[in-house]
Amino acid sequence: MATTSNARKINEVRKAAERLNSEARTADQLMEGISLLLNKEMLKYNWVGFYMLEAGAKPPVLVLGRYQGAMTVHTRIGLNQGICGAAASSGKTVVVDDVKKDPRYLACSLETKSEIVVPIFAQGKVAGELDIDSHFLAAFAAEDRELVEYCAQLVGKRLGKA
Ligand code: SME
Repeated sequence: MATTSNARKINEVRKAAERLNSEARTADQLMEGISLLLNKEMLKYNWVGFYMLEAGAKPPVLVLGRYQGAMTVHTRIGLNQGICGAAASSGKTVVVDDVKKDPRYLACSLETKSEIVVPIFAQGKVAGELDIDSHFLAAFAAEDRELVEYCAQLVGKRLGKA
């Protein structure tokens, strides 16, 4: 099967993420590097950010961490809110091809058309998530999902060691 240009690009970006992981001294540096890398190199990844569960918060809340893209009003998201809350509470990746059709969606930007949210596990528990918005419908194919899940795993392993 011919390798598509998207698959080639994804392979390059995956290797760049691996390099960032070996160079970053902290989980925070790794999250900063990954948000920059994905936003710059993956042309449909128009907003890339991390939400992390606040330590000890009752009820639990996701707090915006490192991100690239436009500022958002959603800096704190409960686990019962949005696509972000759905991914963190289920511990499963959520891909939304058309945000207009998903009643859970919390709007960050009028331009957003599709979204992927991947939970980050540290020592077996959800510690946060990697959220990406696109200005294009159905921007996240299976190979994109694999890349984003790979990046989330790198961060999770790093957090687990902290
Ligand atoms: N759309 C998300 C909120 C976060 S913004 O995309 C940055 C949601 O529905 O949870």
